[in-house]
Amino acid sequence: MIPLRKALTSTVGKKILMAFSGLGLVGFVIVHLLGNLTLYRSEGTAFNAYAHTLDSLGVLKLIAEFGLIGVFGLHIYTGLTVKMHNLSARPIGYNQTRSKGGPSLSNPASRNMIITGLVILGFLILHIWQFRFGPGIEAGYVADAKGEAVRDLHRLVVETLKNPLFAGIYSAVMILLGMHLRHGFWSAFQSLGAMNARLTRPIYGFGFVLALLLAAGFLGIPVWIYFGGAQ
Ligand code: HEM
Repeated sequence: MIPLRKALTSTVGKKILMAFSGLGLVGFVIVHLLGNLTLYRSEGTAFNAYAHTLDSLGVLKLIAEFGLIGVFGLHIYTGLTVKMHNLSARPIGYNQTRSKGGPSLSNPASRNMIITGLVILGFLILHIWQFRFGPGIEAGYVADAKGEAVRDLHRLVVETLKNPLFAGIYSAVMILLGMHLRHGFWSAFQSLGAMNARLTRPIYGFGFVLALLLAAGFLGIPVWIYFGGAQ
C-alpha cells in the first residue's frame, strides 16, 4: 500500500487536493456573493448589518478566515506545482490543440487557468488589503445599526468602486473569475473521477451556468456602484 503522504504529494494526489480545495472555494464564493447582494440596496444599512453580524462572530470568524487561508493556500500550491510538473514533462506546448475524439472541451478558459488563477491571486491581495484591513470606525467609517456604532464598510466599498481604476480592475477580474470557475468546476469532477458518459454533459453545463451566474452577480456590483446605483 502507498503511504498517505506519498499518495497526496504525487501528481494525482495533488490533483485531488486541488479539486477538493477548488470546490470548497466555489462554496465560499457562492456564500460571499449572497452576502454581497445586499450591496445592490442603494442605502448601506443592510450591507453594514450583514458585515457586522460576521464581525460579531468574533473568534469563529477568525477561525473561518484561517481555514480560508489554508484552503486558498492549498489550492494555489497544488495548482502551481501540477502546472510546473506538466511544463517539465512537456516544455514546448502543443502546436495544435485538437480533441482526441468526441466534442472538444478545450477553450480559452481551460488553456489559461494558471493566468486567470494568478490574476485572481493578485486581486485577492489588493481586495483584502482594501476592505478587510481598510479604514474602520477609528478612521471615521462609522454607521448606526439599531443604535449601535458599527464599521461603515458600505461607504468604503462605494468610495472604492466609484474610482474608475478600481471599478475597471474589479470588473475585469470578475470576468476572469467566471472563466476560471467555468473550467475549474467540471475539471474538479474529472480529477475526482466522477465523470462518465452520463454525467459529463450535465456537470459541464451546470458548471457553465454557475460560473456565469457568479461572474454576473459579482460583475454587476462595481458596474452598479460606478454608475450611481448606491449612495
Ligand atoms: C464586486 C466584487 C466583490 C466585492 C464588492 C467584495 C466585497 C468584500 C468586502 C466588503 C470584504 C470585507 C469583509 C469584512 O471585512 O468583513 C471582502 C472580503 C473578502 N473577499 Fe470579497 N468582494 C468581492 C469579490 C470577491 C471575490 C471574487 C473573491 C474570491 C475570489 C473574494 C474574496 C474575499 C475574501 C477571501 C475576503 C476576506 C474574508 C475575510 O477575511 O473575512 N471577494 N469582500
